[in-house]
Amino acid sequence: MKRSTIAVMNTKGGVGKSTLVLAIAETLTAIYNKSVLVIDSDSQASVSSMLMTSLRLHKLQSEATTIVDLLANTVLQQQPLDWPKYVVAGTSDIDDAGGLYLIPSDMQLTLFEREVSKESQHSQLRSTIRSLLDGVRSAFDIVLIDCPPGLSVLTESWLREADFHISPTKPDYISVCGLEVFRRFKALNPEMGFAENLGVVINLMDPTGAQDRDYDTWLRQRADNRCFSQPILRSVALQHITQFSPEGRSWLGKYPGSVGTAIKSIAGEILQRIEASERDEAAKQATSALPEVAVDGNQARSS
Ligand SMILES: Nc1ncnc2c1ncn2[C@@H]1O[C@H](COP(=O)(O)OP(=O)(O)OP(=O)(O)O)[C@@H](O)[C@H]1O
Ligand SMILES: [Mg+2]
Repeated sequence: MKRSTIAVMNTKGGVGKSTLVLAIAETLTAIYNKSVLVIDSDSQASVSSMLMTSLRLHKLQSEATTIVDLLANTVLQQQPLDWPKYVVAGTSDIDDAGGLYLIPSDMQLTLFEREVSKESQHSQLRSTIRSLLDGVRSAFDIVLIDCPPGLSVLTESWLREADFHISPTKPDYISVCGLEVFRRFKALNPEMGFAENLGVVINLMDPTGAQDRDYDTWLRQRADNRCFSQPILRSVALQHITQFSPEGRSWLGKYPGSVGTAIKSIAGEILQRIEASERDEAAKQATSALPEVAVDGNQARSS
């Protein structure tokens, strides 16, 4: 099965996770013509409110069609997983976002997370997340999961079941510590499975600040960070994308100039890295399926 599910995560808050989920999702849809599902797994519902009016979000929350209802019905009530019921179309305020879909969130997610943090619920939660990702993987080109800061049991399930993770970070000490905590968490129980690192996005960069440049260099020196080539600068345009515009706008109007160039480059690099990872995976599988060949290269040894 193709690998296309990406958890967007840093244990540090306020580094631009939700903003980047929105920008990458809209760019993959409008510029790269991909169908994209955004799963909002943050009780603050930030990315949900960036993708629709508060009136519409409130209606969906009142109709019990959010990620909370999906998870509560499946994990706690043990009903069959009916994920298409929770997918909302016609989100986003840009013109060419017909391929963008959302499973919205709700404040009630906090209560669900308390309930599900009991150890007896962990395996049911994990298998629900696995089935959900299996379902949406075959229906959309790319799936982006907006995680809250911290490492809740729910976030852990996304990280263990998704194919990839992307970590936005600010070029500062605390955000870099957030990455380090995340790295240590990943190393704790490798046998439990974990998403592959698709890369670190350096966000909120001030190119004129000497300290930002030092952190940028330092982050890029660590090869396993796999930093995306373009940093995203601190900009008024990106600060404004979080405000949903009911009148609608063009992709270029929302992501003008160098902001658009950087977002386009990151979205393109995401697609390239996924393709490269698929090729590596296929090559690995082909190699492991080959019979061992004798030293002279003519005889296959049966083992
Ligand atoms: N490149 C940028 N330029 C300017 N403002 C930005 C940029 N990226 C993010 N912001 C702003 O920074 C704030 C935090 O962004 P965002 O909510 O996306 O972070 P987050 O990591 O999702 O936060 P949380 O951990 O609370 O979920 C928001 O006000 C957003 O508008
Ligand atoms: Mg957020």
